[in-house]
Amino acid sequence: MLNNLITINQCNVKDLKEIISLGRRFKSGQKKEPLRNKTAVLLFDKPSLRTKLSFMIGVKKLGGNAIYFSPEEVGMGNREPIKDVSTVISKMADLSIIRTFGQTIIEEYLDASSIPVINALTNEQHPCQALADIMTITEHFGDIENKNIVFIGDGNNVARSLSYAVTKLGGNFKIASPKNYFLDSKTVNLLNRNLSQNTFIQTSDIEQIIEDADIVYTDVWTSMGQEKENNKRLLDFKGFQVTSSLLDRASDNVKLMHDLPAHPGEEIEEGLLYDRRSIVFDQSENRLWAQMGLIDYIFSNM
Ligand code: NVA
Repeated sequence: MLNNLITINQCNVKDLKEIISLGRRFKSGQKKEPLRNKTAVLLFDKPSLRTKLSFMIGVKKLGGNAIYFSPEEVGMGNREPIKDVSTVISKMADLSIIRTFGQTIIEEYLDASSIPVINALTNEQHPCQALADIMTITEHFGDIENKNIVFIGDGNNVARSLSYAVTKLGGNFKIASPKNYFLDSKTVNLLNRNLSQNTFIQTSDIEQIIEDADIVYTDVWTSMGQEKENNKRLLDFKGFQVTSSLLDRASDNVKLMHDLPAHPGEEIEEGLLYDRRSIVFDQSENRLWAQMGLIDYIFSNM
């Protein structure tokens, strides 16, 4: 039973498949109102376009009401202790959707919460993005099993959540990053436990993994909160840009993915987001449907 989504690692195969299937049903026009007369609070410590938009619209479509707090407003952990913020919101609302910095912040928030909590991005995790991504891959390829998902860039929140969802569903996850930006060992251990016939490869050599890529995925080299490291990262990631000629060397039917916003000219070549092989805007749209599936799934378990 899934009552919260703090990290994607909480999801088993059944959870992932059912959330995506519910998302697909909403996308094809199903109407359902599990949030009727309920209120969701979005509490964001970092900026957002897709996440805010998709949750605000999704909650409304599910019959509920959404209230958004921007990064300047609440000061969770500064102006007021995390557990007090969580307790107050629990007493009035029905669902918390939190975007913040460290994973421990959302864990502390969850400890004090008596209503479901959804992680809308932390430094460590971006589980809702991973749900939209596996939904998008399924739409384009029918299935994730045995597909080669090649991630080029930082072993960050997006890579961490995606790698788990892909390997859990039987896909191969291959990531190329500069050595100091590899996925952490805890994640690698988890991924290895997800493997049966499928593989996980972590390397600094793009050549080793590009040839049979069904998906080439990238994300920014400097995530929100890492702005001070930007100059160093630009140097460290030299040679890891996703370009049109790199896509030419992958499978004939390769698709390009990016969670957005992109930094064109850094992790991705200028203009490549609009390439015929790009499915980045399908990914964006699927944030809405996958999250509606997630909320419906959580509330039907209650
Ligand atoms: N890795 C990026 C994802 C943005 C949606 C960040 O955390 O800033």
